[in-house]
Amino acid sequence: MVEPGPDEGELHTILRAGARVPDHGKLAPWRFILFRGEARAQFGAELARIHAAAQPGATEDQIAFEANRLTRAPVVVAVVSRVTPGIKIPEWEQLLSAGAVCQNMLVAATALGFGAQWLTEWYAFDGEVNRVLGLGENEKIAGYLYFGSESVAKDERPRPELSDITSNWTPAR
Ligand SMILES: Cc1cc2nc3c(=O)[nH]c(=O)nc-3n(C[C@H](O)[C@H](O)[C@H](O)COP(=O)(O)O)c2cc1C
Repeated sequence: MVEPGPDEGELHTILRAGARVPDHGKLAPWRFILFRGEARAQFGAELARIHAAAQPGATEDQIAFEANRLTRAPVVVAVVSRVTPGIKIPEWEQLLSAGAVCQNMLVAATALGFGAQWLTEWYAFDGEVNRVLGLGENEKIAGYLYFGSESVAKDERPRPELSDITSNWTPAR
């Protein structure tokens, strides 16, 4: 994705849409970390460092690829899922709410005319990256959401036939 990305007001709209999701128990079991401007390359430098340490055989090209991950779009938002264990609201529901946050943001960005993509990739599941991000014990990355203008039109992918995934419930005999 290329410039322009969402400006301050548009990003605010996207984030507000993200924060306006079904949330059982009013827990707000999520938070957002923004990567804009130089912060994208600075975070990329951390990814390159962590990748190089974990993969001593990594080539310079591979390390450069990691360094440039977040510069693939003008704005990246990490949606952090923050689960409170041992309360009345099941953890499953708290996690689902974080998924709804991601989808609402994609829909909002698309409605504003931007490209929007939900990626996880390895750096959503890495303890050292989580430390760099300052994630707490009960926090996980739900997704890195990439926003910008589409440089190429997206290919449509096969979608399931509704008839394959839909049924009418009937009582057991
Ligand atoms: C939680 C989650 C993580 C995803 N992570 C990746 C990923 O790491 N790499 C990838 O190519 N697609 C990933 N996807 C798929 C893309 O977000 C998206 O479905 C795909 O680009 C097609 O977009 P569309 O369904 O809006 O057309 C992920 C989707 C979800 C829901």
